Amino acid sequence: MGSSQSNTSALIGRTSTWVEFRDDWFAQGASRYAYRGTFHGDPHFEGKPCVVKVYKEEWYDRLSEYAWVADDRAYRKAHEMAQLFNARMPSTKPIEFVKPEFTRVSTRAAFNLLGFIPFERKVKGKLAGTSDSVSNIIPANATLAVEPYLEGKYVKFNSNSGYSERADIATPAAFSHLTYHESNGQALVCDLQGVRSSSGYKFTDPAVNSSGTQLGFYGPTDLGKFGIVKFFKNHRCNDMCRRLRKPRITNVSLSASDMSNLDRIVTSMPSQSATSYTYWLSAASGVPNADVNRVHNNLNLEPIYAQPFQATD
Ligand SMILES: Nc1ncnc2c1ncn2[C@@H]1O[C@H](COP(=O)(O)OP(=O)(O)O)[C@@H](O)[C@H]1O
Ligand SMILES: [Mg+2]
Ligand SMILES: [Zn+2]
Repeated sequence: MGSSQSNTSALIGRTSTWVEFRDDWFAQGASRYAYRGTFHGDPHFEGKPCVVKVYKEEWYDRLSEYAWVADDRAYRKAHEMAQLFNARMPSTKPIEFVKPEFTRVSTRAAFNLLGFIPFERKVKGKLAGTSDSVSNIIPANATLAVEPYLEGKYVKFNSNSGYSERADIATPAAFSHLTYHESNGQALVCDLQGVRSSSGYKFTDPAVNSSGTQLGFYGPTDLGKFGIVKFFKNHRCNDMCRRLRKPRITNVSLSASDMSNLDRIVTSMPSQSATSYTYWLSAASGVPNADVNRVHNNLNLEPIYAQPFQATD
């Protein structure tokens, strides 16, 4: 075992399985660093490549619950919806979400393996956008998500705030629309990213925009009804999703100022591919947080057939 691959972790629910991962992360999102690693201890997975995602410490304070709990919730909803999609659309490429397993850095596994206990493991990494090498530290019991490495070209097909990749890739866009339809308007699975191959799509790190009153039920990437409104504002249906239900604002009683705040919030949500976060909504739109929450609570979206979404056009 080389010194470049010496971080270890035991996987919850698979006591004999562990992963080792490299000291240098290869990619990062807003909330996690991603390290390449390898599965061990299970004959079905032995030697297979994985990604180990280390939650950034700043998120520990920001969230009311552990970040992984919401990520797990989003994965489960996305997985459930992918199975529905595959059953409803048997002639299109199937969609699969890779299953993340959540665990912690295990000093015990490291002890057994390497003969020392790294209470804090120093790892090298590069600052985003620079060539500087910096050091950061994986805390001794940092939360990790472990999932299979997606081989191939990693593509972001849509975002959680209305961005959509090329219009001629119909399946991911139709899938997001179908999740809204099948959940009767409760959830829009989006932020679809991963790889596309001849056998289908493999996605990871989904976001779910949910229409309950609790903005952020699926974590800080759950932009709620604002994300749903924005998605349908930008979405152009294709043959797979044309007949599905779309949201319509049904409470005409929303005050004029609420309507104008809604418009400001939705308009200010970025249409680029990067993931957006609930705590940006207020800053980006200039609408005070209390008003953001009130508009969200009062907004009534009804999933209806036929009529295209028009509220904020
Ligand atoms: N399973 C995977 N296989 C290959 N690359 C991945 C995988 N998961 C994530 N990545 C890469 O790591 C980056 C960060 O991971 P991500 O899950 O998006 O973190 P965050 O939750 O912070 O957004 C992704 O943008 C992608 O480039
Ligand atoms: Mg991400
Ligand atoms: Zn559609």
